[in-house]
Order: sequence, then C-alpha cells, then structure tokens
Amino acid sequence: MTLLAGISRSLRKYLLNTESIMLICFCVVVYYYIFHGTAFWTFLERLRIKLELKVTGRYDRIPVTGDKEITSERSKASWELRKDNVGVYAIQGRRPYMEDRFNVVTDLERTKASIYGIFDGHGGEFAADFTEKTLFKTVMVRLLKSALVEEKLNMSQMLSEEILTVDDQLLSIERATGELSGTTALVALLHDDMLTVANVGDSRGVMCAKDGNTVPLSFDHKPQNSKERKRIKKAGGFISFSGVWRVAGILATSRALGDFSLKERNLVIAEPDILTFDLKEADPSFLILATDGLWDTFSNDEAVAFIKDRLDEPHYGAKSLVLQAYYRGSLDNITVMVVNLRNRTAVKVQRKGSLA
Ligand SMILES: *[C@@H]1O[C@H](CO)[C@@H](O)[C@H](O)[C@H]1NC(C)=O
Ligand SMILES: *[C@@H]1O[C@H](CO)[C@@H](O)[C@H](O)[C@H]1NC(C)=O
Ligand SMILES: *[C@@H]1O[C@H](CO)[C@@H](O)[C@H](O)[C@H]1NC(C)=O
Repeated sequence: MTLLAGISRSLRKYLLNTESIMLICFCVVVYYYIFHGTAFWTFLERLRIKLELKVTGRYDRIPVTGDKEITSERSKASWELRKDNVGVYAIQGRRPYMEDRFNVVTDLERTKASIYGIFDGHGGEFAADFTEKTLFKTVMVRLLKSALVEEKLNMSQMLSEEILTVDDQLLSIERATGELSGTTALVALLHDDMLTVANVGDSRGVMCAKDGNTVPLSFDHKPQNSKERKRIKKAGGFISFSGVWRVAGILATSRALGDFSLKERNLVIAEPDILTFDLKEADPSFLILATDGLWDTFSNDEAVAFIKDRLDEPHYGAKSLVLQAYYRGSLDNITVMVVNLRNRTAVKVQRKGSLA
C-alpha cells in the first residue's frame, strides 16, 4: 500500500508538471519527424548505411524485387514469366531434369537498373541454382550500394568481379561436398542507356538494333574456338569430338562456373567476356537471351526475324520461339528470354511525367 502510494506520489511530482509534459510533447514531435519526414529519414538511412559499410565493410540487405521462376517443381515441363517488358519461356525438352535457370529484376529500387540472367546447368541442378541466386543477390547489392553512397560503378568490372567471386564460392562448396555440377552464365545489365553483357559459356544474346540489324551481344565459348583450344592445350588438356567438341571429352562448353574437377586442372575457366553497348546509338527494339538449346536450331538472324514478327504476342514471342526450336528437333532444355525495348523511351517519359 505504502509502495503504491509512494509511486503515485512521485509520478504526480515528476511527470505531471509542465516541464515533463513539454518534454514528452517534444519527443513525440521528434519521433514523427524521424519516421514520417522522408528527407530526414533518407539522410539518416544513408548515414547508417555509410556507417555500416565503414564498420563491417559490407552491406547486404536485399530488397524483395527478384522475380523467381513460377515454380521449381521437377515434374513441370515448362516454366514461364511475364513481367513488365520481359517474357520468358523454358521447356525441359527431351531430358530428364530441368537444369536451366533464369531470373529478372526490372527497375531495381533507387538505381533503375534492370538485370536479366540465364544459367544453363550441366551435371546436376546445383550450380545453376546457386549461381542464379547468389549472383543476382550480389549484383543487386553492388548496384544499391553504389547508388546509396553515390559512387560511380564500372559495370563491366563489377560483373566480372562478382562472377568470379560466385565461382570461388561455388568451387569451395563443391570441394567440400564432392558436387561436380557446373553452369554457364549470361547476364545483361541495363543501366543509364548502357547495356553491359557478361558471358561465361555457350548461352547467347542477340539484339535487334536500329533498322532491324542483328547484333550479337555475346560470343559462345566452345572448345573448338581457336582461342579456347589454345588455352586448353596450354593447360595440358585436350578436346575431342563426340557429337560435339568437348573439353577433355566431357564438357561441350569451354567456360563455366563450377565444374570442380575440370577447373582444378584449369581446363575450364569462369573468366567472363564482357561487351558494352550504347542503347542511344543502337536503339534496339528487343533483346533475346537464350540457352544453346535454341542456338542449335536457330541462327542469330533467324531468331531475330522470328521474334520481330511476334513481339505482340503475350510472351513477346519467347514461347513461340521455344516451341519452334523444339519442333525443329532440339534435344536440349531450352530457355528463351525476350526483353521488349520498343517502348523504352516512351516508358521513361511516362515515368518522369508521373513523378512530376
Ligand atoms: C538439360 O538437362 C539434362 C539432364 O539433366 C542435362 O544433362 C543437360 O546438360 C541439360 N542441358 C542444358 C543445356 O542445360
Ligand atoms: C572498366 O573496367 C575495365 C576493366 O575491367 C576497363 O577495361 C574499362 O576501361 C573500365 N571502364 C571505365 C569507363 O573506366
Ligand atoms: C508500345 O508502343 C506501341 C506503338 O508506339 C503501342 O502501340 C503499344 O501499345 C505500346 N505498348 C505498351 C506496352 O505501352
């Protein structure tokens, strides 16, 4: 009793006087200023991130903008994605498991960059799965980080570094677990009217540029290419022909992420080739990114001509192109991604207008 009475007496004494009430009001105002005054909040967040970067040397809070393929059920025969200006269609073809992966991030918050990636696995799904997830994450983090601290990124260098880092991580997992799978990687990064395309392996990108010209976005890493053949020979390896040319009689692509056993002997490397395109100059109407399952049955020109007539279809023609490759007898898993850029400038103007 005496305790309660004591508490209530001191409450009255210390809380219900003018000074305390004013202090409480002040705190409430500051609270609302911080949490509802955007400018102040942004400033504070930037400060916090800078601090976090300084202290820990990294920043890895991931925005939830990545769009996963619809499902990863093994029993499924096809996968599709339609989002903004991107259409993807993938089929398992005549193989027992689907080992292709893809991912798309459009207009990443704060950066307005878009990332498109296709990963063609072999020897199991693990490498393609790991690379798709990890690489998209780390590239998003690098883009966000540079936007937040207002640092200018060299996109080619950034993609190259991240691909090699993911390969290192993948290899150390493979070393520890005896996993042997590998994957190609084809990643296109759209940023400030520039397109940066990194390629490891034999997936391929093309674009339909101004006046309908076909422009390759990447060049396949095949064992029989003279540059690759020389490199493999120099590393003490060989290539041989069984159906297609193969590294050490095993692998039909000369570069890949993972592939622990071949990489140990340096026969396969993950070094990406990177090309950069000025979109103001090229003014493309669309891009096609696809796994080798498509390119076994379509030339670059044929694929571009095919999509040009079908850009008004729901998947911007990606589905028709996959099915056509299948009918032509492609035995592989086939993934085709079409990025429709016909309204690129119109979309930009609209966005500016809606902001104002
Ligand atoms: C398709 O899947 C099969 C079986 O899992 C695999 O051996 C093959 O390498 C895959 N093809 C591609 C291009 O990923
Ligand atoms: C970006 O880095 C690459 C090396 O990775 C270099 O060749 C290129 O000149 C750099 N570009 C710019 C604009 O600094
Ligand atoms: C893109 O532009 C064309 C012609 O300029 C127009 O007919 C079409 O509706 C536009 N599509 C979208 C998705 O805005």
